[in-house]
Amino acid sequence: MNCFQIIKSVLDEAYNEIPGDEAGKDNDIKDAFEYLRTNYSQLWNQNKIDYSNSITRFAYIYVYVTSHANLVCSLIQQKEDLCKLFDNNKVDVACIGGGPGSDFLGILKYLITNQKSPDATFQLCDREATWAESWIDVHKKVDPKFRISTSYLPLDVTHPDSWKPFTKYFQSDIFTMIYFMSEVFALRESAEEYFATIFSKAKPGSFFLFIDNNAAQFYNWFDALAKTHNIKIIDSGERKEWLPYHEEKSDLGRYFQKFSSPKITANIAYRIGKKMS
Ligand SMILES: C[S@@+](CC[C@H](N)C(=O)[O-])C[C@H]1O[C@@H](n2cnc3c(N)ncnc32)[C@H](O)[C@@H]1O
Repeated sequence: MNCFQIIKSVLDEAYNEIPGDEAGKDNDIKDAFEYLRTNYSQLWNQNKIDYSNSITRFAYIYVYVTSHANLVCSLIQQKEDLCKLFDNNKVDVACIGGGPGSDFLGILKYLITNQKSPDATFQLCDREATWAESWIDVHKKVDPKFRISTSYLPLDVTHPDSWKPFTKYFQSDIFTMIYFMSEVFALRESAEEYFATIFSKAKPGSFFLFIDNNAAQFYNWFDALAKTHNIKIIDSGERKEWLPYHEEKSDLGRYFQKFSSPKITANIAYRIGKKMS
């Protein structure tokens, strides 16, 4: 399966989990699109989004995951240092706030497109445990020549008791933070210790890939952490992206007919950082 066929199969599983008849489910899903859109416009001062409901998770995967995966893939593709990372035999990836799978799928899309097959492990670090249902068996859907494995780390970056027990993933080769810092921005006082820890414990030579809403308060936070913890920004930008959706359109099948198209434009800020000694 390609990435969008994988997303389609995950959507099918999530859709089947939603109780009720088709018309009722579709209405609930459309309400969830609105719920997410409204909450994302208020992230600078509140964090209230609850992904524990299967309807909200379906809505998130449908609207945002394809788009964010495309962003991750295209940023890797444009940066030689990141392309080279995936020439190694083994790559460990930590996806911070990566429960919905976008970060992982973006990298998988890059690997499939470029026919690279390192032994790749993905740790999806997220406070919402139910995301794990979607991705835990994903290796079975991918051509076995791509040697990938995913595992889920249940951690809440605002609760030290939940994140402090996990330390091995600090040795990852790349940390992705895709639309995550904006999500916890309103709780930054409680999250500060987590970010200071991960930025300081990351091993020399490891990469940070940050993509988020193009708003200074979010990328300034990342930039300040990078500066304090000796992470050199090797590429950065703020710009609008138009995402190709012909591939998704054919692969996401019937959901395209039922619902409006997933997110196809994104006003992003991105940073690619490298941890120095
Ligand atoms: C907007 S989504 C981004 C997901 C993914 N990286 C992407 O680009 O599609 C934010 C994610 O952060 C997770 N999250 C929110 N608050 C969190 C916290 N305090 N600790 C850990 N994860 C959190 C949510 O469960 C959700 O999966």
